[in-house]
Amino acid sequence: MVKIAPSILSADFSRLGAEIQEVEQGGAEWLHVDVMDGHFVPNITIGPLVVQAIRPHTKLFMDVHLMIENADLYIPQFAKSGAEMITVHQEACTHLHRTIHLIKEQGVKAGVSLNPATPVSTLEHVLGDIGMVLLMSVNPGFGGQKFIPEVIKKVGQLKAMLIERGLENQVEIQIDGGINTETAPLVVAAGATCLVAGNAVFGKPDRGQAIAAIRDAANK
Ligand code: DX5
Ligand code: ZN
Repeated sequence: MVKIAPSILSADFSRLGAEIQEVEQGGAEWLHVDVMDGHFVPNITIGPLVVQAIRPHTKLFMDVHLMIENADLYIPQFAKSGAEMITVHQEACTHLHRTIHLIKEQGVKAGVSLNPATPVSTLEHVLGDIGMVLLMSVNPGFGGQKFIPEVIKKVGQLKAMLIERGLENQVEIQIDGGINTETAPLVVAAGATCLVAGNAVFGKPDRGQAIAAIRDAANK
């Protein structure tokens, strides 16, 4: 069963608690938190303070996507604030293996994300150490962008790499960017297990209905 992870990037931040309640009651499994630093990506969003503030108000699995440089400096603080999965970008980590282990030392699951132009082969030597690969299907930085179909091929390649290593039940394949009722079935058919959706959930008046529509489309 595919997991749906609404991204709060597209939520109304003036009523964030209520927005999160709506997606939790609407059947989401995870909550996706997009952290941007204005260096790795051309946008600035939120930090550990916001993760800490929302943590007591939701039981959703807290999935924190770090689009930042120098992630090692901030990982312990995100873990203390209540992150349950911390995902870093391969492109932003000079010593990726060290960063993955730093995340795991905090008692948090480690994920690694790849931009659309980065091949899945770059993760060959860390697949056994991580709980998730996040394949970006837009260039990170903003919600509401158009899905890049080339990622479908990468999902298939990653799935094959996981199966070859007996890791297919251990490593989630998450897709992030431009996911909606049209694109969800394409990536799930290729092997995706977790879908991030910002605009397709928070851009709709009924969040529960929006989540159900993505799930139904994905399971078809
Ligand atoms: C983009 C973020 C995404 C974004 C997705 O850099 O990582 O999580 O919120 O938004 P949609 O679903 O609107 O493309
Ligand atoms: Zn994201």
